Amino acid sequence: MIGRLNHVAIAVPDLQAAVAQYRDTLGARVGAPLDQPEHGVTVVFIELPNTKLELLYPLGENSPIRAFLDRNPAGGIHHLCFEVEDILAARDRLVTQGARVLGDGQPRTGAHGLPVLFLHPKDFNGTLIELEQVK
Ligand code: CO
Repeated sequence: MIGRLNHVAIAVPDLQAAVAQYRDTLGARVGAPLDQPEHGVTVVFIELPNTKLELLYPLGENSPIRAFLDRNPAGGIHHLCFEVEDILAARDRLVTQGARVLGDGQPRTGAHGLPVLFLHPKDFNGTLIELEQVK
């Protein structure tokens, strides 16, 4: 059911330092920071030949990234995003099998302008999983 790894999201405590590290030390193609107030994050997209990285930095007081960075002050992998062809079919199959969808269970518009859902990390080996419908 899941397809390509669309991106790995990494929460970072210092966005400028992380950008400099990926751009200058690792030599990656790093985009400009994008504020996404509706998600409470500033995002930097990094294009790799086979997938993407997203650096996530808190934006605003109620950022969902803030508590994560409180628990992981050095930063860390926040979630993996897998592509699916039909997000509602994927959700229904997962719910039938006992997985928990975060929020109200309805897809939202994600960082790429496409429908996304998040699955509870306790149901997936401690990993927060995002599903993104790519078509
Ligand atoms: Co994501």
